[in-house]
Amino acid sequence: MNIGIIGAGNIARKMAYTVNNMDGVTLAAIASRSLEKAQEFAREFSIPTAYGSYEELACDSSVDLVYVATPHSHHYAHAKLCLENGRNVLCEKAFTANAKQARELIEISHTKGLYLGEAIWTRYLPMRFKLDELISSGVIGKVSYLTANLGYALGDVERMVKPELAGGALLDLGVYAINFALMTFGNDIKDIRSSCVKNENGVDLHNSVIIDYADGKTALLHSNMTSNTDRRGMVYGDKGRIEFDNINNCEGIKVILNDGTVTEYRTPQQISGFEYQVSASVKAIAEGRTECDEMPHTEILRVMEIMDGLRAEWGIRYPFE
Ligand SMILES: NC(=O)c1ccc[n+]([C@@H]2O[C@H](COP(=O)([O-])OP(=O)(O)OC[C@H]3O[C@@H](n4cnc5c(N)ncnc54)[C@H](OP(=O)(O)O)[C@@H]3O)[C@@H](O)[C@H]2O)c1
Repeated sequence: MNIGIIGAGNIARKMAYTVNNMDGVTLAAIASRSLEKAQEFAREFSIPTAYGSYEELACDSSVDLVYVATPHSHHYAHAKLCLENGRNVLCEKAFTANAKQARELIEISHTKGLYLGEAIWTRYLPMRFKLDELISSGVIGKVSYLTANLGYALGDVERMVKPELAGGALLDLGVYAINFALMTFGNDIKDIRSSCVKNENGVDLHNSVIIDYADGKTALLHSNMTSNTDRRGMVYGDKGRIEFDNINNCEGIKVILNDGTVTEYRTPQQISGFEYQVSASVKAIAEGRTECDEMPHTEILRVMEIMDGLRAEWGIRYPFE
């Protein structure tokens, strides 16, 4: 399967490295707004075709799947460009800037019968399924509460601080904490309460969210773009707790029982962790599906709706909305 990448930035490099180390997939093309930049990227990652515009890659019928690696503010336009030209798409998180854009892309994918996935890699990692298995096994008993946080000192990164690039901690980092809660406790949500602190441009620097579930469980989430946090997820039950070390890329799981017994589970050897979302997309495309089980369209939309709701509460609107 031939893969193309749109946007020759930071995360595109990680994906290029990953695809080059996978079997059954080939990096066929890279597109940048600058031909020179695309050619340099192509040289570095041995990619046969370099395009100086995103349109050219979107129109390349030899490309089976396009990975959209541009800022959140541009996912909608770039994913739409690809879908309208007949390309399957794996789009970086946050999927779009808002739920309206996500809904429209999903509709196009259904109409055209093309695959559309979100590259929220934590949904595809094997340790995510290990966590499910441990909770279902009842090892920590009846589960009532989880916490999850993700914070990096990214205050000087352009796409984080600018409203016109859909900046803020929520769409970049909070999206992982929300996905952690939804993956673990589902989405039968009764109530959401939250607060945030904004930068001088009006996007959130850090935010705290409480999700109350219909069955009585609670998730307490925090994301932060000014400080490195411990990035931990914790799930609490009446017989013990599960420590999920790093909700952004699980480095290991510990089960700590109330009697002090500790059992550790290690993360399997991986290329970068990005390979699982690529494999899930390849499988779905081979099966003629428009979505994959790991991150179905309903979940993509649910996460975007939650983030829309939080931003509405905080009075954050991007200039292009
Ligand atoms: N999964 C993860 O672990 C992870 C980690 C970091 C980021 N991300 C996601 O990946 C996406 C890109 O993040 P990144 O860190 O790679 O950002 P980045 O280094 O700033 O790269 C983004 C690329 O998008 C292109 N672009 C198109 N329009 C742009 C505009 N108006 N302003 C700036 N760039 C524009 C540029 O490529 P050209 O100049 O080549 O056209 C740029 O290099 C974001 O959605 C982010 O949330 C995911």
